[in-house]
Amino acid sequence: MKKRAVITGVHAWVPPYVLDNKELETMVDTNDEWITSRTGIKERRILKGENQGTSVIGTAAVKGLLEKTGTDPEDIDLIICATVTPDMLFPATANIVAHNVGAKNSYSFDISAACSGFLYALTIGSQFIETGAHKKVIIIGADKMSSIVNYQDRTTCIIFGDGGGAVLLEPTEEPLGIMDSLLHTDGSGADFLHMRAGGSRKPATMETVTNREHYVFQEGSTVFKFAVTNMADVSARIMKKNNLVAEDIAWLVPHQANKRIIDATANRMGIGQEKVMLNIEKYGNTTAGTLPLCLWDYESQLKKGDNLILAAFGGGFTWGAVYLKWGYDPK
Ligand code: UT7
Repeated sequence: MKKRAVITGVHAWVPPYVLDNKELETMVDTNDEWITSRTGIKERRILKGENQGTSVIGTAAVKGLLEKTGTDPEDIDLIICATVTPDMLFPATANIVAHNVGAKNSYSFDISAACSGFLYALTIGSQFIETGAHKKVIIIGADKMSSIVNYQDRTTCIIFGDGGGAVLLEPTEEPLGIMDSLLHTDGSGADFLHMRAGGSRKPATMETVTNREHYVFQEGSTVFKFAVTNMADVSARIMKKNNLVAEDIAWLVPHQANKRIIDATANRMGIGQEKVMLNIEKYGNTTAGTLPLCLWDYESQLKKGDNLILAAFGGGFTWGAVYLKWGYDPK
């Protein structure tokens, strides 16, 4: 029997501060009606305070995950953190989390695939389980988007929030777990969604700060068109590849960037609203954090053997879908 990687636990964390649409109305020229109808977002969480990076989110999520699954941190083999807002350019945020939770025997690294980061990391991590190399792998998807959002730009500041989550991957010989994944990249997308300065091409200077180049730049309508087409397309393709029809799918777990993109993906798959995980109204777009946050919010409704399609599109461009069978009944 083929060994597969199955999710045996999920936990997430969001900071307590709620930035709602009403407060955004006092910051930029926008209104609750526009934000709600164009994106589906009502509020998002913001990580406040000095020296609070993405590792704060990752650490809280992983600590909760270890506790909930009764896992000894010293048994963890590998931690992968998907993020575009690492605490520092180096070392990896995954290393900081590993240290914070006492995962002394684990190695760790970050991956950068923006909103598709969790799918990339899940796919990478599952390989180490399938080959038999590792027995316990933690996948984190977390972002502190407020650290790179320009709160004078109404086209981006209304979308993003802070938060994230983590899952534990373990081997199984049952027909459960990560069944298939389709991942894609198109580097030409860098023109439409990026953070211009602060990397090696354009290190920080007084000028880059003055010009607000350390913030997310997004050509929203272009990204929207690519997202609608590609997220729907990859989700339909992974179903077809695995001979799945809409009735076979228990849940679509879509990246929470815009309710209209989510609706288009569900329509293309022929899936009704009742099978679509949705929490964009509470958290906005937490980039790599959206998918584990969805799994965490809906965990009590998931049953062993449920077919889930996870799908995402984001900066890079990156996009993809993962087909998995859920590993356990509600506890
Ligand atoms: O997760 C990573 C990938 N990112 C995404 O998937 C995001 C994809 N893009 C989107 O979700 C949407 O493009 C946005 C939500 C960012 C923008 O929505 P849109 O329907 O594409 O709006 P738009 O950019 O075409 O702008 C329409 C109008 C413009 O006014 P005019 O030129 O028609 O007078 C904007 O200036 O809406 C205006 N506008 C706003 N009005 C009130 C833009 N932002 C706002 C705002 N409040 N916050």
